[in-house]
Amino acid sequence: MKGVILAGGTGTRLRPLTDIVNKHLLPVGKYPMIHYAIAKMAEAGVKELLLVLGKQSAGLYIDYIGNGRQWGLEVTYKIQEEAGGIAQALALAESFVYPDERLVVLLGDNLFENSLKEAVSRFGKQSGGAHVFLKKVADPQRYGVPVLQGSHITKIVEKPEQPPSQYAVTGIYLYDTAVFDYIRKQNPSNRGELEITDVNNAYAEQGKLTWTLLDGWWTDAGTHSSLFEAGTRLQEREEL
Ligand code: G1P
Repeated sequence: MKGVILAGGTGTRLRPLTDIVNKHLLPVGKYPMIHYAIAKMAEAGVKELLLVLGKQSAGLYIDYIGNGRQWGLEVTYKIQEEAGGIAQALALAESFVYPDERLVVLLGDNLFENSLKEAVSRFGKQSGGAHVFLKKVADPQRYGVPVLQGSHITKIVEKPEQPPSQYAVTGIYLYDTAVFDYIRKQNPSNRGELEITDVNNAYAEQGKLTWTLLDGWWTDAGTHSSLFEAGTRLQEREEL
């Protein structure tokens, strides 16, 4: 199982902080944000990790992470030159994984309590497909939102005005390598990006999208208020 952390986003909603440093290096508790995603990968049993970065602050990531030894990981870096969406960033991982491997993908601004270890190990044993993690939220219109029929996700709607459920599809994804073929088939969305939701929908159409509900706290730290919330949560949990 290989790990991929996507940290290429520019963080416009966190300006002016992100005018000087990349979003995923902003402090959350006593660590830069990226620290938590790396620790989750190590906890999940990942040994080889790819970090997809933008050009902003790229040297600072290397200063902090180096080759990943302090987490027991072997870290490789790739640069996403222009912001083109989560799926475009993920496409950069294709040469990093073997054809029959599985991958754990985390968005670098997603902070959460649950360990991924069990789900990752279960996914490693299933025949393939994709797996997403859902969290019940008060403001689903900010996220990808699943349409649930019984225990199946029939479809995910990205940032719907009228959310079809109370759940957010979090930025935690498990994939087989078919993901790269699905990405190739996508066209840019209205916001000009290759959407990870379209990729997940391609799996859903094939009946190959499974899910887990996160029972611990989860937040994406993409706005000032959610960044503040993430810092508070981590302090409460004495993870500092
Ligand atoms: C992205 C995904 C969305 C997901 C969210 C989780 O949104 O497109 O489906 O719910 O991450 O953090 P974005 O951060 O690009 O607005």
